Amino acid sequence: MRVAICPGSFDPVTLGHLDIINRARKLFDHVIVAVMINPSKHTSFTLEERISLLRRATEGMEEVEVVSFEGLLADYAKIRDAAAIVKGLRAVSDFEYEFQMALINEKLNPDVETIFLTTRSENMFLSSSIVKQIASFGGDISSLVPECILNDIKDRLCTGGKQG
Ligand code: PNS
Repeated sequence: MRVAICPGSFDPVTLGHLDIINRARKLFDHVIVAVMINPSKHTSFTLEERISLLRRATEGMEEVEVVSFEGLLADYAKIRDAAAIVKGLRAVSDFEYEFQMALINEKLNPDVETIFLTTRSENMFLSSSIVKQIASFGGDISSLVPECILNDIKDRLCTGGKQG
């Protein structure tokens, strides 16, 4: 069985993430969506909230498993005998960081390949931070996040516009 890991902070999951997960499903038998710790990011959603939103967004996808792991991605890939780490690449700005991560992970675990899927053009600009910023000012995020979790994300982040 060919296993892939889609790692990330997922703070929160967006349609961009979901597109990468869906495309990984076509390439692998089993896709582990792993909510990892990114030490350089402060998250707005708790780990439990991020997992819960991901589980709902991937409901009915039999080959998808949502987990969390506090440790090195390379170690988790070894534990799960994963053939690949699958990540989305949006623009040149993503490249340097992602390339560094891929090289580090290869050094730590030579048995796992990192595969980059180029983002669809409609998701080029999309990120969890953009979603959070738009939602916090009461903007429309309905075309940016999975519909089934739209209201939860809005309720959690929307503070509305304030004058003064
Ligand atoms: O969605 P993100 O924040 O870009 O995902 C980055 C993430 C969480 C995949 C990355 O920070 C990660 O792999 N964290 C686990 C710790 C690790 O293995 N770091 C790489 C070696 S320093």
